[in-house]
Parts: sequence; structure tokens; C-alpha cells
Amino acid sequence: MAADVDADRAAAAVNGITGARVTVDPFSVIADDEVDAVVVASSDATHADLVIAAVRAGKPVLCEKPLAPTVAECERVVAEENAVTAKTGVPLISLGFMRRYDPGYQQLRREVAGGSVGRPLLVHCISRGVAAAPGATTESSVTGSAIHEFDVLPWLLGSLITEVSWHAPRSTSAAGVELQDPQVLLLRTADGVLSTVEVFLNATYGYDVRCEIVGEVGAVALVEPARTVIHRNRGRSVGYPADWRPRFADAYRAELQAWVNGLGGLTDPDMATAHDGLQAGRVADAVLGSMRSGGAAVAVLGAGPEPRR
Ligand SMILES: NC(=O)c1ccc[n+]([C@@H]2O[C@H](COP(=O)([O-])OP(=O)(O)OC[C@H]3O[C@@H](n4cnc5c(N)ncnc54)[C@H](O)[C@@H]3O)[C@@H](O)[C@H]2O)c1
Repeated sequence: MAADVDADRAAAAVNGITGARVTVDPFSVIADDEVDAVVVASSDATHADLVIAAVRAGKPVLCEKPLAPTVAECERVVAEENAVTAKTGVPLISLGFMRRYDPGYQQLRREVAGGSVGRPLLVHCISRGVAAAPGATTESSVTGSAIHEFDVLPWLLGSLITEVSWHAPRSTSAAGVELQDPQVLLLRTADGVLSTVEVFLNATYGYDVRCEIVGEVGAVALVEPARTVIHRNRGRSVGYPADWRPRFADAYRAELQAWVNGLGGLTDPDMATAHDGLQAGRVADAVLGSMRSGGAAVAVLGAGPEPRR
């Protein structure tokens, strides 16, 4: 069953799937007796209520990032899950932070854990896109795009982000008045590592996600975007994907498969939880606080337990 408030998009989602039903009411899908588990991939602002409905129905739910756009909503979702988990012992919420399933990020994590570049000191993250989605704002660039870094950095380093600051150069002429683009964030983790994050939604030339971890005896970096290089006409080139879909196609598939395996009891330790979503939301909130105060260093409030290694 698929639901979308836009009936045409609901129909398109199940195109070619024999027997699939569609509706414009997502809550009726969650309540349907034939539905065992739920994927929420609607707009960010809809996530909290839909995930809570799934939790109350006792159904496992994979929710796209972010868990919700505000800390208050994330806390509401986590409280609902905690209430159910206290009775059943079984958490129901998984979160779509798919970078954890990207082969490149997984290799970075293994290198850090294995000590091949020594004790990490710095991380440099870059997230560039071709063009911002319609309606993108300075705030949604943090809560919707940079949020990936707020999850993947603690996952890579095994240490929580505790302090942030927000910075910006002049904005690109491609961005509207509602959007400061690019933005630069400085993130400190409890282990003393400093991470730089550039988020540039209107970079125009391609979808380009980079990450380099600098350690005491070396550095390790993603070599994406391409697996091949073309040599031609006395030139050397690699292509950039147009957006996140080709770049993270393998990660989305692996994440979904891990979630499906989890429904059968094979819980994957890399799968992000509702608590991870809340933690990333707290970092986003601190970044917005820094933004509003002109770039001051802001502590991340309510930091939870250190991430799993
Ligand atoms: N993990 C990632 O890399 C990644 C990448 C892109 C998008 N996302 C997330 O996936 C979600 C969807 O993103 P998108 O780019 O497909 O957005 P989109 O705007 O193209 O699609 C959102 C869909 O949700 C539908 N919708 C809105 N309100 C609804 C409601 N109350 N009930 C049911 N349907 C509703 C809209 O009609 C639309 O079809 C967002 O939360 C986004 O942040 C994650």
C-alpha cells in the first residue's frame, strides 16, 4: 500500500506492482491490518506524526531523515517509542541516515577504528548539490541537508558533537533571499576532534559529497564521485552525479535490506535509531542558535550516551 496526499504521486510510486493499493490518507495505511511495517518518506514536517502513528500501532517504521525538523518534535517521537519499548523491549523506529551504509563511509570508519591514520585530529566534510530544492531556506539547509553530517561524524569518530558554530561567506547569486548558500559549520566532538562542514546547495557543477579524516600519521578520504576516469582529447575527466540518488544508490539499497532483515530479527547495529535522530536534531538546533547569534560557539544541549563503536 502506498499513500501520498498527491494521488498521482501515490499511483506513480506503485506503478507496475500488481495488486498494490493507493490512498491519499497515510494514517489509513498505517492502521491497515494487512500492513506489517511502514516506510515514511514524505516531507520532513510530516515525519513525527506518521512515525508516532506507526509506533502506537506497534509497527516497525523506517523513517527518512530527519526524524523531525525540531528538537521538540524529535523528543515527542522518542518519548512515544520509549513508552512502547518499556513494555515490549523492542524498539520500532529506524532512521534513514543512509551514509552509514555507503561503502566509502564504511571504509572510512574501519580505517579510523583500525588506527591506520593514527588518532583523528580533523575532519573535512563537503556537501554540494546542483541546485537547491524549491522552498529551501537557510534553516532547512541545516535541518535537512547538514543533518547527514551531524549523524555521520559521531558514527565515524565514536564521539558525540558537543559544540558548534555557524559561518557564511557572501551568498551565491543563484540563491534566493530566503537562503544563505553556502554555509560553513565548525563542529567539535567530545574527543577533541574539530570538523569543518561546507554545505553548498547551489554549487551547479554536480552532486559532490566529500569527507577527509586527518590523523596524527596520515589522512583518509572518500574518492567518490566516480569509479572510473575517462582519458580523451588530451584530457582526464570523471563525471558527477546530478543528485543523491545515483551517488548513494548502493547505500539506499543496503539500508533498506538491513531494515527488512531487522524485521526478521536480524537487527543491524549500524542502523540509526530514533535516539540518533534526536541527537542529530540537537546539533541542528545548536547550529541554528549559532546562526541567530552571528556565529557564536554554542554547546549542544542534552547530549546522550556516546555512540556505539
Ligand atoms: N536520505 C537521503 O539521502 C534523502 C534524500 C532526499 C530526500 N530525503 C528525505 O526524504 C523525504 C522526501 O523527500 P523528497 O525529496 O522525495 O520530497 P518530495 O517533496 O519530492 O516528496 C515528498 C512527498 O510527500 C508527500 N506528502 C506531503 N505531505 C504528506 C502527508 N501528510 N502524507 C503523505 N504524503 C505527503 C508529497 O505530496 C510528496 O509527494 C524528506 O523527508 C527528505 O528529507 C532523504
